[in-house]
Amino acid sequence: MNNLFNKKILLIICGGISAYKSLELIRVLKKRNVQVKTILTKSAKEFVTPLSVTSLSQEKVYYDIFSVENESEMDHISLSRWADLIVVAPATANTISKLSSGMSNDLASTVILASNKDIYLAPAMNVRMWEHASTKENLFKLKNYGYKIIGPEIGDMACGEFGKGKMAEVNEIIKQIEIYFNNKTKNQKFKALVTAGPTLEYIDPVRFITNKSSGKQGYEIAKSFRDNGFDTTLISGQTNLDPVTGVNFIKVNTAEEMFNETINNLPADVAVFSAAVADYKVKNYNSKKIKKKENLNLILEKNIDILAHVSKHNYLRPKLTIGFAAETNDLVENSLTKLEEKNCDWIVANDVSDTSIGFNSDNNQVSIFYKNKTNETLDKMSKSLVATELVNRVITKLN
Ligand code: CTP
Repeated sequence: MNNLFNKKILLIICGGISAYKSLELIRVLKKRNVQVKTILTKSAKEFVTPLSVTSLSQEKVYYDIFSVENESEMDHISLSRWADLIVVAPATANTISKLSSGMSNDLASTVILASNKDIYLAPAMNVRMWEHASTKENLFKLKNYGYKIIGPEIGDMACGEFGKGKMAEVNEIIKQIEIYFNNKTKNQKFKALVTAGPTLEYIDPVRFITNKSSGKQGYEIAKSFRDNGFDTTLISGQTNLDPVTGVNFIKVNTAEEMFNETINNLPADVAVFSAAVADYKVKNYNSKKIKKKENLNLILEKNIDILAHVSKHNYLRPKLTIGFAAETNDLVENSLTKLEEKNCDWIVANDVSDTSIGFNSDNNQVSIFYKNKTNETLDKMSKSLVATELVNRVITKLN
């Protein structure tokens, strides 16, 4: 079956000798009934002509950001909205550098910066350029932003040198695109539920107890499930983050509300409990605003443990139930205890005493503890990439 049938790919060709391979890429995509629109960078036009691209793609070629004709027909925002996927091939060192710093000084970089789609880069450059520390740093940044990289390969280069830097072969690029769309279709049958952010427990109508959770990691996990085709529900405590679009987004205040919404939205195939649920609620809640007095005693009582309740439930338990462990000390021991006591399949643990990776940071470093007693520690990376890594492991497990 042709899983690429009628897909829309926006191909961005940059100026490198391997741009000629992109013509072949267009030809093969067209043969697979893919709609291909193409953007050529200024230097790409030195390597391939707009005429050859338009003849192969049977579509208009875009290359000028300030073209009245382009903007009236399909502006730079609509171009990325039109596409199901964006592929940059070849992605030169220059373009990689521009993208890593968020530049938008030509049509290609502007479309990418404004894009809401997944982006594949197929780098192609001389081996020294590929190995240069700045290229490595730029790619590291781009991966953390969520770009996916295909290749490059090792081989003889057009410049006469040998090494890593050759653009991936057309077949390899097609294969990766196929896997991408396959995953999306395959995962559509799966339902994911994510809890995220802090809960708050009211003392009186205007005061509450809460914690420092930003919700960022859970939001990224929900986005990653969504982007991989899962039917996704995100149950979030109060955060300062924008709602996640394309998911069933439910906002709650208290642990009790989070519990009720979780139960209402089960069953699911996978549930990730990343919320920092308040362990206690106020027993002597005052329905009127409490007046200032010398002493005030709050009586706290335990909240229900949502994760433990679900993971021990006879029929509501998802096939894959994943908890988080936010620890300031004894990370391994505490995580293993939670894995066992909360009957989880996996525990994702992070050290929240380190401010560079904990609450509110954009980065994270997690260890995953598995039920079968194995574990792994991921490198420090963006929360978005942690989400990708986690969801990739979920996909492998569910399939
Ligand atoms: N959790 C939950 N409901 C609660 C408390 C925790 O669902 N009432 C979930 C969290 O979402 C997380 C896991 O349990 O997935 C562990 O949460 P954490 O705060 O690290 O641990 P606690 O169980 O609260 O234990 P402690 O505070 O003693 O470390």
